[in-house]
Amino acid sequence: MSNSINTSLKRVLVIGLGQLGLPVAKYINDKGFDVYGYDINSESMRRAQEKIGIKTTTCFRNFDIYIICISTHNPADIASPQIDGLLSVINKISMEANNGSLVSIESTIPLGTSQKVFELLEHRLHVVHAPHRWYSQDEEKYGVNQLRVIGGVNPCCLKLGSEFYTGHSKCPTHVFHDEEIVNHYNAQEEPNKTFNASTANFIDNSSIDNNNQMNSQAYSQSLEIPMHTVSTIEIAELTKIIENSHRYLQIAFAEELYLYCQANHILFPELRDALNTKWNVEILEPRRGIGGHCLPKDTKMFLNSSKFRSKILQSAMEVDYLYRDFMTVRERKLITSVANLTN
Ligand SMILES: NC(=O)c1ccc[n+]([C@@H]2O[C@H](COP(=O)([O-])OP(=O)(O)OC[C@H]3O[C@@H](n4cnc5c(N)ncnc54)[C@H](O)[C@@H]3O)[C@@H](O)[C@H]2O)c1
Repeated sequence: MSNSINTSLKRVLVIGLGQLGLPVAKYINDKGFDVYGYDINSESMRRAQEKIGIKTTTCFRNFDIYIICISTHNPADIASPQIDGLLSVINKISMEANNGSLVSIESTIPLGTSQKVFELLEHRLHVVHAPHRWYSQDEEKYGVNQLRVIGGVNPCCLKLGSEFYTGHSKCPTHVFHDEEIVNHYNAQEEPNKTFNASTANFIDNSSIDNNNQMNSQAYSQSLEIPMHTVSTIEIAELTKIIENSHRYLQIAFAEELYLYCQANHILFPELRDALNTKWNVEILEPRRGIGGHCLPKDTKMFLNSSKFRSKILQSAMEVDYLYRDFMTVRERKLITSVANLTN
């Protein structure tokens, strides 16, 4: 792969123009890039042209950056992960893109997907993962440009990705994520070198300052989004699916408390209010069960990421199932009693 870094990144193709892709394309367009959009659904392409004024195309040739915002759930079951669409897009990029372009996966993906993408692209393109924390109810505060995490398959991928998102390329050239291993190597093996746990290589300490000087170079055109860089793309993948799994747990706990209150004739809202007066307690409000195409799917992505399957998350899924069952039965009873009253 070409290691030369293009400092004038201009032509951007946003792939997937749905709930997330549309504001992403708009944001990049507003930043002065030459933005095109592509979606498998022609209606979404038409809407993007009309609503945000970007050009649309079905040709993937001659772009500097490919931003992937397509759905990653099974169309027949929104709670199940599926990356077939993503892989077909990668296949098209592989056939049409120029060597050395940047592919940024912004969709939520299962652990290991980015590396697979890099291999499908035959190591010819740079691959980063920059997942979203976008929230439709408050785009102003939690939109495209809030603090996000970025990881790259290789340091050169991360460097190029950081330049595009932040205007700088502050790569974690010597980030360690297992202190014990690092200390072990540093103390015993190579006293004049630092161990890079992500590449399992030693870095000559004398080169670190030079790297950092090179990395602090600023670029004229970028998205100006604050990005938290991580040393491996797997950490970026895990961060997204674990933050949503964490949210899933919080909601499931609220659902369980609600069921507990129902079984014991306790007023849930009053108990919740009382609990939430403590500074480090925040019991959520259980609503209609954990739905949508993010939390259940992303939690399953995390559960499926390891042979060691999180027990607490599996229980949380059972709780959500019980809660939704309870709510459905209650709703049915309510409808029947209203019907009886009106008859
Ligand atoms: N919406 C959010 O709040 C949010 C927040 C964070 C992360 N995400 C993640 O972002 C991704 C997209 O979510 P979304 O909410 O925009 O979904 P969406 O369903 O609203 O939009 C997805 C778009 O991708 C298109 N698409 C599907 N397969 C395609 C293909 N093969 N080629 C081209 N286009 C294709 C669809 O037609 C659709 O327009 C998902 O991975 C989701 O988990 C979404």
